[in-house]
Amino acid sequence: MKAIRILKNGGPEVLTLQDVELPSPGPGQVLVRAAAIGVNFIDTYHRSGLYKLPLPTGLGTEAAGTVEAVGEGVSTFKPGDRVAYCTAAVGAYAEAHLVDAGKLVKLPDSVGFDTAAAGMLKGLTAQYLLKQTFAVQPGQTIVFHSAAGGVGLIAGQWAKHLGATVIGTVGSDDKIALAEANGYDQVLNLNQDDWVAKVREATGGKGVPVVYDSVGKDTWDGSLDCLAPRGMMVSFGNSSGAVPPFSPAILSQKGSLYLTRPTLFAYAAAPDALQAMADDLFAVIASGAVKIAVNQRFALADARKAHEALHSRKTTGATILVP
Ligand SMILES: NC(=O)c1ccc[n+]([C@@H]2O[C@H](COP(=O)([O-])OP(=O)(O)OC[C@H]3O[C@@H](n4cnc5c(N)ncnc54)[C@H](OP(=O)(O)O)[C@@H]3O)[C@@H](O)[C@H]2O)c1
Repeated sequence: MKAIRILKNGGPEVLTLQDVELPSPGPGQVLVRAAAIGVNFIDTYHRSGLYKLPLPTGLGTEAAGTVEAVGEGVSTFKPGDRVAYCTAAVGAYAEAHLVDAGKLVKLPDSVGFDTAAAGMLKGLTAQYLLKQTFAVQPGQTIVFHSAAGGVGLIAGQWAKHLGATVIGTVGSDDKIALAEANGYDQVLNLNQDDWVAKVREATGGKGVPVVYDSVGKDTWDGSLDCLAPRGMMVSFGNSSGAVPPFSPAILSQKGSLYLTRPTLFAYAAAPDALQAMADDLFAVIASGAVKIAVNQRFALADARKAHEALHSRKTTGATILVP
């Protein structure tokens, strides 16, 4: 089968398409034939080496497709089942991938492969951020960065559905209308607006109870300054680079703030937690409250172009690879 592999860390050019042997499932494993593969920013951290993996390695943790074979002891899945995963061991950028049964969910008929590959990782992230890390309440005003991105478009719709007033940020004006159409009440341009001042203005000077920040280095200080006393800084990504080391005293100086650095992999580690979060996501998709936008589609062989697109900041919504 064909699979994307990297032999060394680096830019998108290190992604290479190779012929590798089709693996057989061991005990507790399922071989999933991919119909669509999710591209996520974390894949770029694995590729660059910001998050370390032993090399050489495959890439990607998310895909949707059909069960081809199951290993010993797997009773919950059978060949032909429509399934999706988003927290598997890396290697999803391939025509087929071995996945632990506990990391798989069955897809309802209403959810297509493209939607699942585009929406599982990003949608489950929105689920835990908005409903578990800081449970957003109706009437609250919140800040969510990268509003027009993969996670951002889903989070805007879901937060609006929860009854929040949602302030989003984007890196260019051409993304504002899209974010506004996806739940955001106010969209600020990080590169043009005094966005901290505008957030404080929108809250009558009080600040917001929570900021969801996946931009990292570039927005760290500003995000802290958007928070009300005892507000929660949810730092969940590094799109602009890792946040440099800081003293915890900054949290007291800025108002007895809380800080968390969560990951989907921790929240969805247990199979029942993964299934409950997926059920919640599939319900908001089925109700129409959340729509999943597949705005970029590349052939598996063109994974390099998908990564270049993500780095260019020109993408909106989700990006998928098609084997
Ligand atoms: N912790 C978790 O559980 C978890 C799970 C999923 C995703 N994440 C994180 O959430 C973020 C969004 O993931 P995604 O896959 O949906 O990506 P995405 O939002 O579709 O793409 C990343 C966006 O980051 C913004 N950005 C800001 N500075 C940037 C820079 N220097 N270079 C490139 N982009 C920059 C860009 O939007 P603008 O141009 O509009 O600013 C870009 O479109 C990522 O940081 C990812 O690591 C974390």
